[in-house]
Parts: sequence; structure tokens; C-alpha cells
Amino acid sequence: MPTERTLAILKPDCVRKGLQGEVIARIQKAGFKVLGMKQIRLSKETAGAFYAVHKGRPFYDGLVEFMTSGPCMPIALEKANAVADFRTLIGATDPKDAAPGTIRKLYADNKGENIVHGSDSPENGRIEVGFFFSDSELT
Ligand code: RTP
Ligand code: MG
Repeated sequence: MPTERTLAILKPDCVRKGLQGEVIARIQKAGFKVLGMKQIRLSKETAGAFYAVHKGRPFYDGLVEFMTSGPCMPIALEKANAVADFRTLIGATDPKDAAPGTIRKLYADNKGENIVHGSDSPENGRIEVGFFFSDSELT
């Protein structure tokens, strides 16, 4: 299987709950290589641009509000089949529907505040890694 990049974001609820270490440990145990990691507070403009695909959906304003509510941690990851494997590791968007043992099932409160983002295609994985990291920040 081809080596891919995917972008994770530990969302503000993850940071607020102090779960960064536990979630990163699960990501590393699943075989992902960390290429880059940072902690930032997103502006409304940056969060809105990142989730622009959802503009106009009923949850968009709440999503931007949530993603700007505190610091978050973008993490650039690499692995064979990274995109699909990462989405399996984190589980369904709504923790009620997420499989047992997945990160969202274990730690998320609800569909909006669901601990972690994962890219949804290999193409978006590359685009989203580039959204947060310059080449010199990826090792
Ligand atoms: P993500 O992009 O954050 O990895 O999540 P996802 O692919 O599993 O879900 P997506 O459909 O892309 O939605 C992006 C994020 O918007 C929030 N959301 N809230 N309340 C709702 O009905 C609702 N639907 C989506 C979640 O934070 C979701 O992760
Ligand atoms: Mg998505």
C-alpha cells in the first residue's frame, strides 16, 4: 500500500481535557510516524477556511466557534494507507456510532466535540498537511 500523509488535529476539547498525551500514544502505537506537530489557537478566518467545504451546513458556525474556543494541535502523520487507517483509529464522527476502542468512542462527548480531526482522502491529506506545515517543519 502507498505511503500517505494525513492531517490530525487534536481539537480544543482534547487539549482542554488534557488528553493530548493519551491520544498521541494511541496514534504512535497504531504505527503512524509524526512528521510535524504544533499547538496553535485558530482564528475564525483560519478555522473557517480549513472547514470551508462545510460552509452553509447547519453545523458550520458552531464548528468554527468550537475550533476557535481554545488551543488545538495539528499533527502531520505518515504511514502506508494513512488516511483510511487513521479514520478507522478515530472512529465515526458521532461517538455514539463509533466502534469500541476507537479514540472518539473512548474520549468524545458528542458529534460536534469529537476530540480529533482526520483527513478524508489522500489528496486532502496532502493539502491539509500543507495548510498547517511548511516543508521545513516536516521531518
Ligand atoms: P473531521 O473532518 O473533523 O475529521 O470529522 P469528520 O470527517 O468525521 O466529519 P465531517 O462531516 O467532516 O464534519 C466535520 C466536523 O464538524 C462537526 N460536525 N458537527 N453537529 C453536527 O451535526 C456535526 N456534524 C459535523 C464535527 O466536529 C465534525 O468532526
Ligand atoms: Mg471531515
